[in-house]
Amino acid sequence: MKIFVTGGAGFIGSHTCVELLNAGYEVVIADNLSNAKPEAVENIQKISGKPVVFYKTDLRDLEGMRKIFTEHDIDAVIHFAGLKAVPESVQKPLEYYENNLGGTFVLCQAMREAGCRKIVFSSSATVYGMHNPVPFKEGMPTSATNPYGYTKVMIEQILTDLALADPQWSVSLLRYFNPIGAHSSGLIGEDPNGIPNNLLPYVSQVAAGLRPEVVVYGNDYDTPDGTGVRDYIHVVDLALGHLSAVKYVLEHTGVEAVNLGTGQGTSVLEIVAAYSKACGKELPYRIAPRRPGDIATCYADTEKARRLFGWEAKRNIEQMCADSWNFAKNRYIK
Ligand code: NAD
Ligand code: UD1
Repeated sequence: MKIFVTGGAGFIGSHTCVELLNAGYEVVIADNLSNAKPEAVENIQKISGKPVVFYKTDLRDLEGMRKIFTEHDIDAVIHFAGLKAVPESVQKPLEYYENNLGGTFVLCQAMREAGCRKIVFSSSATVYGMHNPVPFKEGMPTSATNPYGYTKVMIEQILTDLALADPQWSVSLLRYFNPIGAHSSGLIGEDPNGIPNNLLPYVSQVAAGLRPEVVVYGNDYDTPDGTGVRDYIHVVDLALGHLSAVKYVLEHTGVEAVNLGTGQGTSVLEIVAAYSKACGKELPYRIAPRRPGDIATCYADTEKARRLFGWEAKRNIEQMCADSWNFAKNRYIK
């Protein structure tokens, strides 16, 4: 079985490629390296001991996409490629809509021409918006508060319409909660450019001495310790969730949205404490005002993933912080 992975050199994509190779799938990656390094592809091969075919190409290049589907008999696609920074999407909405929607249109066109109609898409818990009660269930109404979130809502709709129009399509819309951690080898992980927007990359840079303190956005939320609560999921568990989704789309048609989370909420201060334990020193933090657009609490209802995919996350917060620190040490401390 051959799987085409768009954005396969990125954080979640690289971990998924490793697990696909470990499970015996052949892997073809397309990535324009706008947010990844070529070393990621080498490290995927190093960890798995298996080769991958890599195309440095942009999804919006239709001829480039056609070439891949001509050169390979692709059984299913996992579509990770996209821009993902929320504040940047507010600054550069056209670039986000153009890249995320444009890339998806071209990919689907090339898939249809090649007769490949099985796709697993990287959506996000962000589609649950600001007003649904936790735990978030797949049937709840979706909405967005920023261009990044709208691209996810819109692509979910586009792929749903595609599957409704042509019953040969099989679409899995995976709504990730907060992926963190890294592969236990320490060779692949999350390494954002510039100042990290997300909590875990920021905390790991504080642990590595690159930044002075964790900035906690608000301690007056209606949560047990007042700080924001999220459903953090180990990226290797998330990668394994994609394997289950691939099996599912290969065997079924139609469209399904599925949460990939643990169902457990963890606060910002609990993360700081767990990471302090992992790196062996108390990490300093300061309380700052709330970040606009943040909700108090976000965690998944995980029942559908268990029922449909037979999948559940296994790794706990301690493991997530230990693996994140293992990667950060390799990356930042020479
Ligand atoms: P990432 O930036 O590490 O990976 C995305 C990859 O896509 C990068 O390697 C980038 O170079 C590539 N890419 C972007 N636009 C491209 C294009 N037009 N053509 C070819 N390659 C392109 O991000 P990630 O954290 O691995 O996220 C993967 C997917 O999951 C994204 O769609 C993201 O929106 C979604 N997601 C991520 C999170 C998260 O917290 N990381 C949460 C929910 C959803
Ligand atoms: C954010 C995005 C979401 C996206 C996800 C993955 C927003 C509003 N949401 O989710 O759309 O899918 O990243 O890219 O940007 N925090 C701090 N200090 C920090 C950073 C974060 O206290 O330096 C807090 C936040 O307030 C939140 C928690 O940590 O309570 C997690 O934040 P983050 O890692 O950015 O993820 P989300 O906001 O859940």
